Amino acid sequence: MKRVVIAGASGAIGAALVQAILDQDPESRVVGLCRDPARAPATLRDSDRVTLLPWDAMDNDSPAAVTDALATVIPANEGIDTLVYAAGLLHSDAVFPEKRLEELSADAMMQAFAVNATGFGLLVRALLPWLRHRQLKRIAAVSAKVGSITDNRLGGWYAYRSSKAALNMLVRTLAVELPRRCKPVACLALHPGTTESALSEPFRQSLAQLKVHSPEQTADHLLAVLRDVGSEANGRFLSWDGSELPW
Ligand SMILES: NC(=O)c1ccc[n+]([C@@H]2O[C@H](COP(=O)([O-])OP(=O)(O)OC[C@H]3O[C@@H](n4cnc5c(N)ncnc54)[C@H](OP(=O)(O)O)[C@@H]3O)[C@@H](O)[C@H]2O)c1
Repeated sequence: MKRVVIAGASGAIGAALVQAILDQDPESRVVGLCRDPARAPATLRDSDRVTLLPWDAMDNDSPAAVTDALATVIPANEGIDTLVYAAGLLHSDAVFPEKRLEELSADAMMQAFAVNATGFGLLVRALLPWLRHRQLKRIAAVSAKVGSITDNRLGGWYAYRSSKAALNMLVRTLAVELPRRCKPVACLALHPGTTESALSEPFRQSLAQLKVHSPEQTADHLLAVLRDVGSEANGRFLSWDGSELPW
């Protein structure tokens, strides 16, 4: 992985992915996208191999701004070999996972879809000029097992579950179109496993019986899966240990 874009570089998993790529591949160059680069971890801000660009999944103008800014960092004809979408929203001041139908809110659904699904599709569209080269491109959406329709037996978490299911459908739909336009490519969804982060923090107690990974462990797991895949992984939904998940 030499020229990499990580969306959500300020998050626990996104920042750990950036750091792990820098550590594992001395020739790598990483462009991190986040809402406020000034608030990204200092290790990323201080690295001369990292460029942080502002991007907000709730802002319609952001993808075009990313296209313009990225062109000054990596010319489109040099291309990128890896895009990881590690942004995500489970809770915020205005959003909290619903336990029952009465908690369903249009505003929370809209925000969850913007960050968890739409942002990914629009970013792939914005980065299309960087995906035209002849080497393998890996495009990974960090999804969640709770976005699996087949696996949904517990219910609840309407906005998060349905927006992750929408993200998964974007992956499958891109996995049909991209091989026609930028072969060879592997566009896949990845479940990172339960990971310590601001996103999982409110559920710490209920997660106590689960295996919870550090962001660094999760980054190592996801990169191991990504390094292992070729274009045969296009359109798959893989867990952090490389096992297949049901859509
Ligand atoms: N942690 C887990 O146990 C777990 C389990 C399954 C799946 N996941 C998935 O893993 C991914 C990373 O989550 P995490 O655990 O690392 O959570 P996190 O630390 O809370 O990171 C979330 C990231 O999403 C970004 N984000 C939120 N709203 C945004 C917006 N409007 N525009 C752009 N970026 C926005 C955050 O940016 P700011 O810094 O600007 O807020 C941050 O970079 C998510 O997709 C999550 O659904 C996590």
